[in-house]
Amino acid sequence: GFTSLQRVTPSELKKHNTPEDAWSSFNGKVYNITPYLSFHPGGQKELMRCAGRDGSKLFALTHSWVNLDYMLDGCMIGFMVPEPSQ
Ligand code: HEM
Repeated sequence: GFTSLQRVTPSELKKHNTPEDAWSSFNGKVYNITPYLSFHPGGQKELMRCAGRDGSKLFALTHSWVNLDYMLDGCMIGFMVPEPSQ
């Protein structure tokens, strides 16, 4: 069904950096990675390295062949946007 997507700033992303509330961005898309932590074949600790931040580079270095968009489809939160200017 339809889920409304959020616009997420870097400072908002940074707040979600605990296993209970972990968000990460990959190629501009933001995902809640908390539900996937215990299923990650590389382990929770490795996946938590990208919590609260952009994980694109780490992801590409470890397994660029994995289809993240497909795997985390139901965990998508929204898109990265710049901080509002003052
Ligand atoms: C393995 C998914 C993020 C490190 C895997 C595998 C999948 C996966 C499906 C198995 C790949 C295979 O056997 O071909 C994901 C998803 C991620 C993510 C969906 C993002 C949401 C990360 C990050 C790191 C990482 C950020 C590193 C900091 C690893 C490592 C393995 C692995 C080291 C290899 C484990 C082994 O074979 O012993 N991941 N991963 N992953 N992942 Fe991730």
